[in-house]
Amino acid sequence: MMIEIFFFGLFITWVHADGAADVVLSCALVEEGSGLSGMGGGGLFTRTPATLVFRDVAVGPDEPLEMLSPFVPPSVPDPELLLFEASVTSPGIPNADRLLHADCNELEVMCEISRYSTKELQDGSDQAFFMVSITVEELDFSISLILETLPVEKTQSTLMQNKLNLPLSQSGTLLTKAIFVVFSNKKSLSAPLRGDVLLDCGFKQPEIPIAHQVDVEWRLQHRGKGWKVLDMKTTLDDTEGVHANVNVERKGSSMNAGQVVSEGNVSLTLSALKVADEGTYICTVSIGHFHAQQVIQLHVIQPPHVSLSEEKLILKTPQTLKCYSSKYYPLDAQIEWLFVSPTATEPELFKDQGSLTSHRQHGDGTFSLSSHLTVPPSVPPGTKVICRVSHVALGAPLDISLLVETPKIDSYWWFLGFLIVTVIFFYQVIK
Ligand SMILES: *[C@@H]1O[C@H](CO)[C@@H](O)[C@H](O)[C@H]1NC(C)=O
Repeated sequence: MMIEIFFFGLFITWVHADGAADVVLSCALVEEGSGLSGMGGGGLFTRTPATLVFRDVAVGPDEPLEMLSPFVPPSVPDPELLLFEASVTSPGIPNADRLLHADCNELEVMCEISRYSTKELQDGSDQAFFMVSITVEELDFSISLILETLPVEKTQSTLMQNKLNLPLSQSGTLLTKAIFVVFSNKKSLSAPLRGDVLLDCGFKQPEIPIAHQVDVEWRLQHRGKGWKVLDMKTTLDDTEGVHANVNVERKGSSMNAGQVVSEGNVSLTLSALKVADEGTYICTVSIGHFHAQQVIQLHVIQPPHVSLSEEKLILKTPQTLKCYSSKYYPLDAQIEWLFVSPTATEPELFKDQGSLTSHRQHGDGTFSLSSHLTVPPSVPPGTKVICRVSHVALGAPLDISLLVETPKIDSYWWFLGFLIVTVIFFYQVIK
């Protein structure tokens, strides 16, 4: 049986009975466009279709095995094909099962491969390195890995891959192994003002125990500017244990050195969030000559406090009602006026939506807005007047309302009425 499942660039094949599967991704080899004369050089990238096969990825016992079939390389090796084969038993692909399930759920998997080179690595003759970045947008999951080509015993029949000029295995694949992985399980998150947040980033590498020195740097980019948030160098010493050298630029940011060394967890904690903490965070992990990154988006959100200027409304003359939406973030907020007349059940929009003040920004970066509605005396008692505020930090729009009350007859009119009734009464009696 040989079923190939192909969905949005990913198909999975089943091989072994011991709970391991091959994950096959369709990727693009991205290269800086060279040799394109007259195109001005630099900034041009070419994309060539490539296939990446992770061999023997461990899967849970409850995988629907009948859905999977083994990956079969082409029967005749083709030096034109870009077929990367990566063994992942070590360091292991974190959350490989999520990649497997991305297929079942028809999620889009993005995969890009590019040459990875540093000065120090160029001496190796036949050895090459590649950087692979895989993103499953809907799962908020992303991973960068560095692949190292494995030596191929060259014979006369050894084919060279045309584009990369690297020797191919008997089955026509480029044999590689993952030597360094940096990943994040949460690529984008929102957190409330003054709260704490954990920005998720981790790494894996085959050396056990973990490398003697790990360098981690967290940076924040926002609106074209960049800052360092924190950096940490951990060294593993035979005698002293873990030694961490931390440099904190943003007060209240921290990493756990113990977790860095024992679990490869380089997540960043930010406490007492401010509006200024919003932006794109870049987690860079370096071990020896290798560095890989993850990018995490942090949004700060704060719901508005909503209130009305009046507790009740009695209409003899037009009355101004104000609705305040205070101290929210980000900027976009909407205020609408609605009413429910005494005989209706569904709210309707006021024709005249009143006037909005301009947004005011407070010292802490939050915004306030208010709207003024003039309610005409023609609005009958029993009408419910609603101010509806919409903002991204409020799941659903927030309604605040009051009832138009029946005007109480003034004591003067009471008195006059009483007088008239009395006069009529006496008139009747005396008659
Ligand atoms: C790091 O540790 C935190 C809690 O200690 C956990 O929530 C997070 O998932 C871990 N992340 C990684 C990448 O291991």
